[in-house]
Amino acid sequence: VLQCSVVGATGYTGAELIRLLAFHPQVKIAHLTTRSEEKIKASTLVPGLPKGTDYVIQKTSLKKIGEDSQVIFLALPHTTAMDAVAALRKYDRIIIDLSADFRLTNVRDFKTWYGVSHQHKALLKHAVYGLPEFYRHKIRQAQLIANPGCYPTSVILGLLPLVRERLIEFDAIIADCKSGTSGAGKKLSMKSHFSEVNENFNAYKVNQHQHTPEMNQVLSDAAVREKVSVTFVPHLLPVTRGILSTLYAKLRQGVKAAHVLKAYEKHYHSEPFVRFYGEGSFPSLREVQYTNFCDIGVQVNESNGQVIVISAIDNLLKGASGQAVQNMNIRSGFAEDLGLLN
Ligand SMILES: NC(=O)c1ccc[n+]([C@@H]2O[C@H](COP(=O)([O-])OP(=O)(O)OC[C@H]3O[C@@H](n4cnc5c(N)ncnc54)[C@H](OP(=O)(O)O)[C@@H]3O)[C@@H](O)[C@H]2O)c1
Repeated sequence: VLQCSVVGATGYTGAELIRLLAFHPQVKIAHLTTRSEEKIKASTLVPGLPKGTDYVIQKTSLKKIGEDSQVIFLALPHTTAMDAVAALRKYDRIIIDLSADFRLTNVRDFKTWYGVSHQHKALLKHAVYGLPEFYRHKIRQAQLIANPGCYPTSVILGLLPLVRERLIEFDAIIADCKSGTSGAGKKLSMKSHFSEVNENFNAYKVNQHQHTPEMNQVLSDAAVREKVSVTFVPHLLPVTRGILSTLYAKLRQGVKAAHVLKAYEKHYHSEPFVRFYGEGSFPSLREVQYTNFCDIGVQVNESNGQVIVISAIDNLLKGASGQAVQNMNIRSGFAEDLGLLN
């Protein structure tokens, strides 16, 4: 049984981690932390915790967390997690960082998109991007796992078979994505409060969202010797959880529907958390909310050479905390779906 801690346990992804870890058969919760001086009962933030548990979220030093935990989940805002990672490294624990701080391999990209210089560049080479469907073999060995962003998870999983099998042009991909409001975290903002979002719908950060370089980095890695460039437009949906991405790409010369379907079957038939619907059938948010699944459907138009992919995830699970637990399972040698199917 692993001793696990969550740093930043009061946020949306932190609370989701508490729920998953509390029910995980191979986990014991060591520490749940907040910056607040007051202790918080986890049950006030997370409904349905097992009867008889009385987890408390409280201010705790990184030293104590490092000493007492075998796996440490960081659910802190981006740019604030990197110092915690640096401080925890000396304890040689498995660190799973849900923030963006160790996802980008290029520090200039980090500065451009997150507005601050990376303070711990030397650690970047130790970080493994925690997308099991592509980097599982590396995750098995990793001490620092950079858990993917929510939009990148839905876009990359939607496109990965097409890119790896080189079925589409790499410079003409459009990702039109819609997210629920929990994607922006718990803090209040003018743009995300109820009366702004309810019965409304809008694009934001049009082709300027910080997840763009992350998608391009991973998809370019999948393309091996070519660069992939995605035009990404996120939208804010008046729902709490879920991301639905509509992905448009141009087929390479001679590519038929059968090649596309074969590529998805090949890459995903043995994946525990990707469900491929085939052609002409598409997921809605309801199918994936409160699950760790990424559901995918495709439509191929051979006459105009276009493929459209619809992918859906729950941003707090496959897009964050569920994927983090999946990574812990892989790294720890547990069944990959342990604690993730209830
Ligand atoms: N929400 C998603 O769908 C999603 C998906 C993928 C990745 N992520 C990433 O996961 C991380 C956590 O996201 P979240 O949505 O859970 O965020 P959140 O709801 O805003 O929670 C973050 C928590 O971090 C703590 N914290 C510690 N230092 C902080 C600081 N300097 N400023 C603000 N809060 C601080 C806060 O707890 P106290 O106030 O109690 O200390 C807060 O509850 C972020 O890096 C985010 O980008 C989120």
